[in-house]
Amino acid sequence: MAAKTIVVGNFKGGVGKTKVAVMASWELAYEFNKKVLLIDMDPQANATTLVARSSGISNIGATIFEGFNAGDLSNTIINVNENLDLIPAAVSFKNLPKFLYSKFSEDIQQITYLKQLLEPIKNKYDYIFIDVPPTISDYSDNAMMAADYVLIILQAQELSLEGAETYVSYLQFMADEYDADIQVVGVLPVLLRAGGRVDMSTVERAQDIFGTDNVYENYVKHLERLKAWDVTGIANQDQHDKKAHQVFINVVQEMLEKIDHFEGEGDLDE
Ligand SMILES: Nc1ncnc2c1ncn2[C@@H]1O[C@H](COP(=O)(O)OP(=O)(O)OP(=O)(O)O)[C@@H](O)[C@H]1O
Ligand SMILES: [Mg+2]
Repeated sequence: MAAKTIVVGNFKGGVGKTKVAVMASWELAYEFNKKVLLIDMDPQANATTLVARSSGISNIGATIFEGFNAGDLSNTIINVNENLDLIPAAVSFKNLPKFLYSKFSEDIQQITYLKQLLEPIKNKYDYIFIDVPPTISDYSDNAMMAADYVLIILQAQELSLEGAETYVSYLQFMADEYDADIQVVGVLPVLLRAGGRVDMSTVERAQDIFGTDNVYENYVKHLERLKAWDVTGIANQDQHDKKAHQVFINVVQEMLEKIDHFEGEGDLDE
């Protein structure tokens, strides 16, 4: 069975997208024993750096842009452990728009290239996570067209739903314009600031807009340990490490229940 492909969405910078994409992939592989591919589509390569640092990978060979050039991603795949693979990014990927425009004349071809490249490798995985930059761009378009699901990040300490709402209206645009077929697999509240309280009015507004059931009961709390892992790599030694892992184990559990629910609905139609 082909992998379920998930993109982490929000059109705002620095809201925790990469952290969620990496940690959800990590827990799925290490704790849930699933075959996972994490695709880094951000030329800043934050996901690549974090995974490499966490697993002692010092030499990254071919990166995603070389795979795009070759029309084949298989030589870019790094085995992180027996369950987790990574397609790394590098700054070279900043040339993606130029590359797509020179290779394809139709915009539908330009935005479905990742989807096309994933076809031959999809069967090897249970889940594929895609980490994207926070822009409406060829990066996000390609991720949207390739993905089955989007996990939307809600900044639960902000008064504004801006990044999350923009994402959903753009999703609608992509569905109307290009028949994008992507299901929202929930809205995940993330707390980035220390000591800040959850703004309940923001969560309630999110529940109104996205549906009460769609806003996750589990929040990604602000944890200093998550920031520390940017420097040390992901660890699992002391109580603080375990607490940080548990946050994402809970989030993944909730996400899997939602996916089960959607897939179950699909069965009824068949
Ligand atoms: N729950 C958290 N608690 C504490 N720090 C966090 C948490 N989540 C993320 N961070 C930190 O916040 C910063 C931004 O997170 P991250 O890179 O995941 O955001 P992003 O949305 O991917 O950013 P960009 O838009 O630049 O891609 C990082 O330094 C990260 O370590
Ligand atoms: Mg990021």
